[in-house]
Amino acid sequence: MEWKMLKLLTLWSLHILCLILLHMKKANAEVPAIIVFGDSSVDAGNNNYIPTVARSNFQPYGRDFYGGQATGRFCNGRIPTDFISEDFGIKKYVPAYLDPKYNISDFATGVSFASAATGYDNATSDVLSVIPLWRQLEYYKDYQKNLSAYLGETKAKDTISKSIHLMSLGTNDFLENYYTMPGRASQYTPQQYQIFLASIAENFIRKLYDLGARKISLGGLPPMGCLPLERTTNIMGQNGCVSNYNNIALEFNDRLKNLTTKLNQELPGMRLAFSNPYYIMLLIIKKPDLYGFESASVACCATGMFEMGYACSRGRMFSCTDASKYVFWDSFHPTEKTNSIVAKYVMDNVLAQFLE
Ligand SMILES: *[C@@H]1O[C@H](CO)[C@@H](O)[C@H](O)[C@H]1NC(C)=O
Ligand SMILES: *[C@@H]1O[C@H](CO)[C@@H](O)[C@H](O)[C@H]1NC(C)=O
Ligand SMILES: *[C@@H]1O[C@H](CO)[C@@H](O)[C@H](O)[C@H]1NC(C)=O
Ligand SMILES: *[C@@H]1O[C@H](CO)[C@@H](O)[C@H](O)[C@H]1NC(C)=O
Repeated sequence: MEWKMLKLLTLWSLHILCLILLHMKKANAEVPAIIVFGDSSVDAGNNNYIPTVARSNFQPYGRDFYGGQATGRFCNGRIPTDFISEDFGIKKYVPAYLDPKYNISDFATGVSFASAATGYDNATSDVLSVIPLWRQLEYYKDYQKNLSAYLGETKAKDTISKSIHLMSLGTNDFLENYYTMPGRASQYTPQQYQIFLASIAENFIRKLYDLGARKISLGGLPPMGCLPLERTTNIMGQNGCVSNYNNIALEFNDRLKNLTTKLNQELPGMRLAFSNPYYIMLLIIKKPDLYGFESASVACCATGMFEMGYACSRGRMFSCTDASKYVFWDSFHPTEKTNSIVAKYVMDNVLAQFLE
């Protein structure tokens, strides 16, 4: 009898111990918020509140979003960071910092400082007068102050260190700026320009670290030579992908990957992850039928060849009826379905480590 009691007691305490360990693991793995910096790939509508033509807060944008709302996301529905937020069990979409509908109680679980048409380079954000990366960091500092006032300093610091900070930008530095505007191309070779951009990325990550961020995802470039806009203008190449742009993306991604290794070695407690969308995007574009897509070379909105933003709205009577059959929504941005595939890929292969 006594022996049986002892056995029960032992089992009982083991059970309690397991529960405590499980709880500790879970508490440790908690991701309280998704904090986003970048360009139109992750802008949730900040550009609606600044004077720029780089906008998408009108139909047909958002026609598959909740309530069919055009929020300023460059998509028919949700963008990758929305899916990532949902996958971490937080919320179904990440709100834009400048949107007056939201306040610090919403932003405490996720916020986007991103601005369509921006880049690492100040000269890129100047092209369409959008929010430069350095100003996104200033907004982030203000946000931290508000978060401290809202949660208390200790809880706010803890939230910041456990939250995932996502950076997604760089395409515009090449396509909107370097290969389109006269300035940078006369100052730098493509390789020198990459080194310049990577140094800005490094600086930015160091500043995030100094501000208490520990879990950071540095996003790589997609195969940007395959964006419908670039294919449309690639007349000599029979509207195939522009291989020069894809090679630049591969080279730049290699630099960012090396930067990731270096900063992880140098900064104690830092968990920087390189999120590379290149190969999954290329696979979707080369074998669209694997994913149930019917078209990867032209986009859904308008003629699908060159429209985005206001041009997409003007030509919308030509838009496709089912965006989920298209890899691209407008000539520069993926559809919600593509975003969900890429987000899942990045989640499973890269971001899942932040749960450990
Ligand atoms: C945020 O807004 C909601 C209503 O949308 C309001 O109930 C809440 O008090 C606000 N919170 C703060 C901290 O201002
Ligand atoms: C942050 O605090 C400042 C100063 O108190 C205030 O003006 C601003 O509205 C706050 N922002 C948010 C998002 O709560
Ligand atoms: C970008 O502009 C900001 C604000 O003027 C400045 O502090 C920063 O040094 C500039 N960045 C580069 C790389 O020149
Ligand atoms: C990245 O690091 C690898 C290995 O050290 C090196 O071979 C490669 O040249 C580096 N890439 C760039 C773009 O600097």
